Amino acid sequence: MTALLKDKVALVTGAASGIGRASAQAFAREGAKVMVSDIAIEGGEETVGMIKKAGGEAVFVKCDVSNMAEVEVLIMKTVETYGRLDCAHNNAGIGGVGVSTADCSKENWDRIINVNLHGVWYCMKYEIAHMLKQGSGAIVNTSSISGLHGVRNDSAYSASKHGVIGLTKSAALEYAKQGIRINALCPGWTQTAMAETEAGATTDPKFLSQFVVDRPGTPEEQAEAVVWLCSDLASFVNGHTMIVDGGRMAL
Ligand code: NAI
Repeated sequence: MTALLKDKVALVTGAASGIGRASAQAFAREGAKVMVSDIAIEGGEETVGMIKKAGGEAVFVKCDVSNMAEVEVLIMKTVETYGRLDCAHNNAGIGGVGVSTADCSKENWDRIINVNLHGVWYCMKYEIAHMLKQGSGAIVNTSSISGLHGVRNDSAYSASKHGVIGLTKSAALEYAKQGIRINALCPGWTQTAMAETEAGATTDPKFLSQFVVDRPGTPEEQAEAVVWLCSDLASFVNGHTMIVDGGRMAL
């Protein structure tokens, strides 16, 4: 075991599946105790079971990240359970709805912004408050390559992910001197439940041609970047938007 994060405490939101589950597993593999959180109870408990089966330590707490009061309780429970909070992967998110900007309903707009953008801010708000008391911490917010370019018929999603990058960079400037590093992960298309729901197009050669390496990424490939960003190996990396997309953004 390499144990990059031995004795650390990590929190992952959206950890019931996909990228969040993989990062929770990777944190545990590296020796961290993991607070697994999600709105989905069954998947969250399943992630905890997988971590424990592999010899790691984890507990599950249900939390809807779009509810500020629930997020406050989540951070409180993390600290109550494990005594501290060293690493946070603010990852919970929902996909777009595939409608043009003028056709997007207020309800869809609010839903996407509430989960993907407000949710990340709520998490950061309470995580940072605790990390300031500790004098240390590392946060990774899941954005997307859609936070770096426009997306036809998914402007709410793209706006939410651009917002995550703005939040990340601004907060990184604010708290660097207090020992807190804050970075963003920008996954390209990654094989998860979300990607499968949205990828009606996966048989379309034009769609497939965007994968420079002829395949989507795996959640595990995203998780390795998250763990590295949270580890001391990345001690001088702050306010960074790490693209993990197999080269897609180099096109
Ligand atoms: P996923 O659907 O497998 O996982 C998302 C998790 O977030 C689910 O377990 C879901 O229950 C949870 N979640 C949804 N709403 C929530 C809420 N209000 N509160 C708490 N948990 C909630 O999808 P995936 O792909 O693992 O997505 C993780 C993150 O990665 C998301 O922020 C997504 O936008 C981002 N992303 C994914 C890409 C992909 O191709 N899969 C590409 C770029 C970014």
